[in-house]
Amino acid sequence: MTDSYPLDQYIEDLRKITAETADEDQVLARVGPLAQRLVADRSWLQPKHYRADEVQGFGVHLLHEEPDHSLAVLVLSWLPGRGTPAHDHGTWAVVAGVEGVEHNVRYNRVDDGSRPDYAELEVRHEFDAAEGELVCMKTGGIHRVTNQTDRITLSVHTYGCHINHTQRSQFDLATRERKEFIVRVE
Ligand SMILES: [Fe+2]
Repeated sequence: MTDSYPLDQYIEDLRKITAETADEDQVLARVGPLAQRLVADRSWLQPKHYRADEVQGFGVHLLHEEPDHSLAVLVLSWLPGRGTPAHDHGTWAVVAGVEGVEHNVRYNRVDDGSRPDYAELEVRHEFDAAEGELVCMKTGGIHRVTNQTDRITLSVHTYGCHINHTQRSQFDLATRERKEFIVRVE
């Protein structure tokens, strides 16, 4: 029997968890399995979620956001061969794969953070995240995502705050420049 777990239930559970704890390890440990149930349910999935922005390289589709921008749940659709620059989120993040395989590179920041427009990163590890698999990051976690397949991939991203409201960073690996990372939401 399929485990029914609609979006409304997920949002209700997110509210409960974040009301009970601000500890990000606990939030990630509790939200992760629920995000996996949500992506297995798929009742929230619509054809428009496959649309992606040719300039940006990926599409961002809002499923839910609280009035204060907290608890943002987004569907991201990734064009073949495209991806993000290295970036952080300015909040905690739980990513659950829906369709296809997304390649992740996780980074450590190795400079002292004293210059707002400069960051040195080193690769920590690389891995592929497939359907039903999780990528969980606390505030400050840095990664880069690419779709190395020949089809659009989809994942559901849950954040402690909508990523366009956290002043989060993108990092140019070649020039070591840091600047704010705003995404275009469909
Ligand atoms: Fe990310």
